[in-house]
Amino acid sequence: MAAISKRLLLSDLVSSDKIDQVPSNYIRPISQRPNLRHVFHDSIPLIDLHHLYGPNRAHVIAQIGRACRDYGFFQVKNHTVPESTTANMMQIAREFFNLPEEERLKSYSDDPTKTTRLSTSFNIRTEKVANWRDFLRLHCYPLEDYVHEWPTNPACFRVHVAEYCRSVRGLALQLIEAISESLGLDKDYISRQLGQHGQHMALNYYPPCPQPDLTYGLPGHTDLNLITILLQDDVPGLQVLRNGHWVAVDPVPNTFIINIGDQIQVMSNDKYKSVLHRAVVNCDKERISIPTFYCPSPDAVIGPAPELVTDDEPAVYRQFTYGEYYEKFWNRGLATENCLDMFMAT
Ligand code: OGA
Ligand code: NI
Repeated sequence: MAAISKRLLLSDLVSSDKIDQVPSNYIRPISQRPNLRHVFHDSIPLIDLHHLYGPNRAHVIAQIGRACRDYGFFQVKNHTVPESTTANMMQIAREFFNLPEEERLKSYSDDPTKTTRLSTSFNIRTEKVANWRDFLRLHCYPLEDYVHEWPTNPACFRVHVAEYCRSVRGLALQLIEAISESLGLDKDYISRQLGQHGQHMALNYYPPCPQPDLTYGLPGHTDLNLITILLQDDVPGLQVLRNGHWVAVDPVPNTFIINIGDQIQVMSNDKYKSVLHRAVVNCDKERISIPTFYCPSPDAVIGPAPELVTDDEPAVYRQFTYGEYYEKFWNRGLATENCLDMFMAT
């Protein structure tokens, strides 16, 4: 068995040290391994947003509502984010992860409270087993509060990433409105609960892995935020839990994958579920995925929407601030147990 790595970033361990075995600190106990042969190739709904603003809006809203209720995940096509914007985003992420080690390490930090940081795995301060991933995490709304912290190499990084953030925020706001309506709430209801709103993103880099059945890019987890908008390259890796089975969601060009996070589950009083998903790795190809995490601001008070609480369906969760939830989530490690369990109404 190979020794524990002394490199800060996994990508440098893989590319420079040319390892042919997974180091011991990445190996999951047998019962927790991905079992890659037992994966289903089903799909998640693909929703055409072309008619979201037009006479067929009600039909699109109903599709979104069903997808949130039955899958917690869907894909969207004919969205408002230009292809050139997503192509530039993907290209700049690839260039960033190809920079020399010493250049990338300028952004390195293992402190999860930092608003711009390059790190590895998930939270190396709390986890027992490491994950096969490096990631650059950026806060990106309000843009002017954070853009000065971002990397300046590659030269166009800030320009392309800022353009992508603005464009994806527009899509997030459309989806939040649609989700509100699909719950029978005022279309501005969810948006109004988010304080000043927040937006974070990750540039995930999953290097090729010599023994992908022993480890994860990211183990099963739910997203703590409101909704996630995922851009991925053409290498498969995302899997979603459905009816007790892991389903591979293979990439479709020019679509985003949308999933409901814990905060929508709370506001919807469990009508919509924040679903477990994970990223697996493979022997041959690196993979890049770029999730945008749309979220409340830390001071926003989150709880079940009063209109969705009745005598028959009492409030499942208590009220809390998003800041409180965020802190609990990062401190507990990426445990499969839902963080929501800590916020149940008594
Ligand atoms: C995440 C996530 C999935 C992927 O970053 O929260 O679920 O395919 N990523 O990278
Ligand atoms: Ni996730």
